[in-house]
Amino acid sequence: KRVAILISGGGSNMIRLVETMQAEGYAAPVLVASNDPTAAGLAKAAVKGVPTVAVDHRPFGKDRAAFEAELLQPLLAAEPDVLCLAGFMRVLTPGFVTRFSGRMLNIHPSLLPKYPGLHTHQRALDAGDAEAGCTVHEVTPVLDDGPILGQARVPVLPGDDADTLAARVLTMEHQLYPAVLRRFVAGDRTPVLL
Ligand code: GRF
Repeated sequence: KRVAILISGGGSNMIRLVETMQAEGYAAPVLVASNDPTAAGLAKAAVKGVPTVAVDHRPFGKDRAAFEAELLQPLLAAEPDVLCLAGFMRVLTPGFVTRFSGRMLNIHPSLLPKYPGLHTHQRALDAGDAEAGCTVHEVTPVLDDGPILGQARVPVLPGDDADTLAARVLTMEHQLYPAVLRRFVAGDRTPVLL
């Protein structure tokens, strides 16, 4: 299976996916694409020998469809079977999402359905939650919705702030996403629960 990964920043989740695919051969990373040409993940992917492309979303302003039309060119040229969003920070239109219906994954740093959207860790802290975590789900036109393919839970500890909690969750993201992708490309939809 050919896997393309969309990033916006450091790409730590993308790197874990690439490393596990290259080490285990359960799929092949065929493209890493970013909406930000300065994304540090692009250089990390290139070091691993994965083709990369940056399509800057800023020149397109609010015209999401025009940005997506530009992004689709290298993306479709890579002929991916699966599309993974990994720290990708742009909302995608239903038109784009439905092109990859049933074969597009995202990782979100909360225990969905709690806290879709942004600032998930601060919201969990503000709510006094005893647990937090991350979710890998199939991407549907509704933001941070869609069938859950995996979740990982971490304790909220006394003295946590958003940064310490984010770091604890990110460590679990790096374990969860590869475990889910491995199953997903094998056709197994049993949720991974860590
Ligand atoms: C992290 O906050 C992670 O929780 C979310 O996207 C952000 C950046 O991740 N998935 P990455 O290091 O770019 O993969």
